[in-house]
Amino acid sequence: MRYPTNDLEHFFMPFTANKAFKANPRLMVASKGVECTTHDGRTIIDMSSGLFCAPAGHSRPEIADAVSEMLRECAYVAPFQHGQPAAFELARRLKAIMPGDLNYTFFTNSGSESVDTALKIALQYYRAKGQGQRIRFVGRERAYHGVNFGGMSVQGMVKNKEAFGPGLVGVLHMRHTWSKDELYVRGQPENNGVELANDLQRFCDLHGADTIGACIVEPVAGSTGVLCPPKGYLQRLREICDKNGILLIFDEVITGFGRTGGNFAGDVFGVTPDIMTMAKALTNAAIPMGAVAVTDHVYKTITDATPGVEMFHGYTYSAHPAACAAAIAALDIYENEGLFAKAAALSDYFLDAVFSLKDLPAITDIRGIGLLAGVDLATKDGTPGARGGQAVQDLWEEGVMVKMTGDTACIAPPFVSEKSHIDRMVEGLRKVFGKY
Ligand SMILES: Cc1ncc(COP(=O)(O)O)c(C=O)c1O
Repeated sequence: MRYPTNDLEHFFMPFTANKAFKANPRLMVASKGVECTTHDGRTIIDMSSGLFCAPAGHSRPEIADAVSEMLRECAYVAPFQHGQPAAFELARRLKAIMPGDLNYTFFTNSGSESVDTALKIALQYYRAKGQGQRIRFVGRERAYHGVNFGGMSVQGMVKNKEAFGPGLVGVLHMRHTWSKDELYVRGQPENNGVELANDLQRFCDLHGADTIGACIVEPVAGSTGVLCPPKGYLQRLREICDKNGILLIFDEVITGFGRTGGNFAGDVFGVTPDIMTMAKALTNAAIPMGAVAVTDHVYKTITDATPGVEMFHGYTYSAHPAACAAAIAALDIYENEGLFAKAAALSDYFLDAVFSLKDLPAITDIRGIGLLAGVDLATKDGTPGARGGQAVQDLWEEGVMVKMTGDTACIAPPFVSEKSHIDRMVEGLRKVFGKY
């Protein structure tokens, strides 16, 4: 253990019950591949790839080497008005795997920063077009777009909003796409895709299409519990955006990089957005990094309209050399090991395994696509989240880690998982959820 400590008091932990955690901590001291080692020497299998971010498995030496070399060679270059070759190389590598003509990439340090950057790019785009009145954003109930003020405003998870005031003004939320009438669906639900997407058209009719700048959705809503879009939904959103001159933003922070069965979910569903956010698997979680890709049209509209500095936006650590090195090394691993194809090939086995839990009385719905699945547990004693909180501890003791959001397990195994890992996971989930 590199940093032993007996003092847990002073770290204000994110999205964590601090007092409870510090009284009964769950610490990892090492992680390798699919497994992590706890402070008391036990092995846990990580079946959420951290937070959906380490599909190539933890602590890959190829990435560590690339980062270490970069930190010794050129640890930092100011990214405003200066550049560094790794950033340009990474943008070129991303262009090769992204859908459509998403050919230009802006770098950030997280998914949250990517979302806020995407919203600001949309505003800048409309100003460049002489349509600066298009300042409304459309998000969706049950969406998650990170925690910064823009992302918090367009997302639709109640707890993530309630303590923080109104956020951005002028944000509208479409209905979420989960329906109690279509439970235990593998892949896309059949019904209501067009009807639900028409919420966007209704906002255009009510508020005026020329007041709306962008519509942002996760192609598969991830953190809320894996909600696949119903058939026709994303196509209809694309149509409405085109008809009304609205930019379509896909937040692919979870779904990007092979998670849903193609390079990006846009490829899987055959719909290309105008702007796409990424983070997480971009560096296989080794170094924080996010990115926002835009189409040729969006990039050229902004850069052609403006002399000098085109966009007054960026971060001190945009395109940090260590992050670029980590991302290029991660892309090399994905490519050399054919990991996106491996993930797609493992999907059926994985989904069969997760759906085999359907008989457990505490489970109320299961959904999934690619190597991503959501399992809903019945709420306990009328307190949403109580059972999920208990599950985190029970699964820890059972040696399985999956992300719990409220009472929903969000499962996203690393692409390097073997069938035996999936078996071990399902055995653990059955044991724990079977007690509820
Ligand atoms: C779709 C989506 N957008 C944005 C974010 C925020 O990313 P980060 O936690 O890196 O800020 C997340 C995180 O889970 C996400 O799932």
